[in-house]
Amino acid sequence: MRIASNLKNYVELEGVNKTFVDGDMEFHAIKDVCLSASPGELLVLLGPSGSGKTTLLTLIAGLLSPTSGALSLFGRPVGDYSNKELQLLRARRIGFIFQDFLLIDSLLVVENIAMVLRFSGMKRSDALAVAGKLLDQFNIGHLARKLPSTISQGEKQRVAVARAIANNPELIIADEPTASLESSQGFDIIKLLHSYAAEEKRCVIVATHDLRITDFADRVMMVEDGEIRSEKSGDFMKTELLRRGIA
Ligand SMILES: Nc1ncnc2c1ncn2[C@@H]1O[C@H](COP(=O)(O)OP(=O)(O)O)[C@@H](O)[C@H]1O
Ligand SMILES: [Mg+2]
Repeated sequence: MRIASNLKNYVELEGVNKTFVDGDMEFHAIKDVCLSASPGELLVLLGPSGSGKTTLLTLIAGLLSPTSGALSLFGRPVGDYSNKELQLLRARRIGFIFQDFLLIDSLLVVENIAMVLRFSGMKRSDALAVAGKLLDQFNIGHLARKLPSTISQGEKQRVAVARAIANNPELIIADEPTASLESSQGFDIIKLLHSYAAEEKRCVIVATHDLRITDFADRVMMVEDGEIRSEKSGDFMKTELLRRGIA
């Protein structure tokens, strides 16, 4: 199936399914998912552990292929990109924030950030200079010459966000970005991502099981058993959080 891609959407999924096959076992992890995400918005995929959020993000990043359905990135079907083009897309136009940060422990903090700039073609000295400035903007310039193993969880997360936006990507994909943080640090991270979406007109997709994060969402999609069960506006979620006494 092909969809007529809407260029205003960075991400479009139409009837996407993903089945994992392991020997003669099959597991239908993603079921008939339709979603779109456009510049300037923070979209939250909210669901319990095992509901399929990471699988969905991996599909959106073009790292997994759907078993069936149509998936477009930046207005073009993913199947039409060559492997090389997909690699370039991920290096230049998509930023990733992983649950366990995936910082490289043998590299200094500033080198971790410079690395993604190097991947997108910047020379080493420029990449280090840009990375240093970015750390200053995030108020973590003092961490530049430390190794990731020597900084706190909250600091690691800020570094991970700085690394994800270093290339000024149009699309940011964040998987449980606040899972290992205390709530105040978690809110700081989501605020950063929200302002990145709103001010830079970028698209941010966050997967989480933390209801409180939805406070900063423009739209919230509820994921359950591999399906999108419903979609709510960010304003609806704010009212709901207040009603439940969570916000
Ligand atoms: N590579 C895989 N092979 C088989 N099953 C998988 C694979 N990846 C994920 N799953 C299964 O798909 C379901 C959804 O997983 P996941 O997307 O990681 O959920 P979430 O991120 O919401 O916790 C789980 O039941 C998980 O065990
Ligand atoms: Mg997950």
